[in-house]
Amino acid sequence: MLKRDQNELLTETGPGTPMGRLFRCYWIPALLAEELPQNDCPPVRVTLLSERLVAFRDTLGRYGLVDEFCAHRGVSLWFGRNEACGLRCPYHGWKYDVTGQCVDVPSEPVESGYAQKIKYNYVRGTDFSKYQTYKWVRVEKADYPNQILDDQIMQSIDRQLSQKGLRRIDTGTPDLAMVYQVALRGERQWNSYSTGGYGWGWGGWRGWGGMGGSTYGSTTTITIGTLNLDMYDIQTKKQVWRGEATKTLDPPKDPDKLQRKIDDAMKKLLKNYPPKQK
Ligand code: FES
Repeated sequence: MLKRDQNELLTETGPGTPMGRLFRCYWIPALLAEELPQNDCPPVRVTLLSERLVAFRDTLGRYGLVDEFCAHRGVSLWFGRNEACGLRCPYHGWKYDVTGQCVDVPSEPVESGYAQKIKYNYVRGTDFSKYQTYKWVRVEKADYPNQILDDQIMQSIDRQLSQKGLRRIDTGTPDLAMVYQVALRGERQWNSYSTGGYGWGWGGWRGWGGMGGSTYGSTTTITIGTLNLDMYDIQTKKQVWRGEATKTLDPPKDPDKLQRKIDDAMKKLLKNYPPKQK
C-alpha cells in the first residue's frame, strides 16, 4: 500500500513536480494531426501534464502548443483568431507566435518596445535568497557582440543585479555562474554552458517547458536580436533561472541612447528576478 507522499510523487505531473520534470524530458503525443487539418485553422484545447494549453497551426504550417491563457488578462486563446503567423487574443489583440512569444500589441507603437518580449523561467522550489554572489562565464561557440557593447551589457546587468542583492565577484567561488549570449546574425543554435571554465558536464536548457514552465515550443534556436541570460547554481551545477529578451540590440547611433536602451531592456529582463514563488 502506497503512502500518500509516495502516491503523490508517482502520480503528480504538474510543473515543478519530480514526475512532471521527468515526463517533460520526453516527447508526448498531444493530439492527432488531423485535429489541425490546415494552416490557420481554429485552435484546439489540449490538457497535458496538468497544464491547460492550446494547439494551433500557423500560416506557414508550423505547429504551436502554448499556454491557453493570454499573458495580458488571462483570456482563453482558444477563442483567438489564428491569422498571419500567430494567434491573436480576442480581448485586446495581443498576438502570439508558435513559440508562445508575444509578437504584437496593437495598442503600443513599435518604438515603445512593448512587444519586445521578455520571457523567464526558473526551477520551482529554488531558494533564490541563498544566492549572493556571481561570476560571469562564457559559453563556447556562442555569439558575443563587440567588446564595447559586451561591456555595456554586462555592466547594465551588474547594476540591475546589485539592486537585487547580488554581488559580482571576479575571484573565488561564487554562488551563481552568470551566462549571457546573443543572436547577432539571424537564427542560430543556442549553446548550453557545458564545459567552459569549470569543466563540468552541465546539462543544457531543454525548452521553456523543461523547467516547469507553462509554454511549450521550439527553443533550441534563438533569433536575431535575442539576448538570453542564464543563471547556474555552482553547488548543484544546475541551471536555476533563465531570462530572454528580444529585439533589444538594434544599435542606435547615439551611444547614450544605446546605453539607455540596454538599461531599459535589462531592467525589464530582470524584473522577475528573484521570481515570486507560488
Ligand atoms: S486579455 Fe489578451 S490581449 Fe488582453
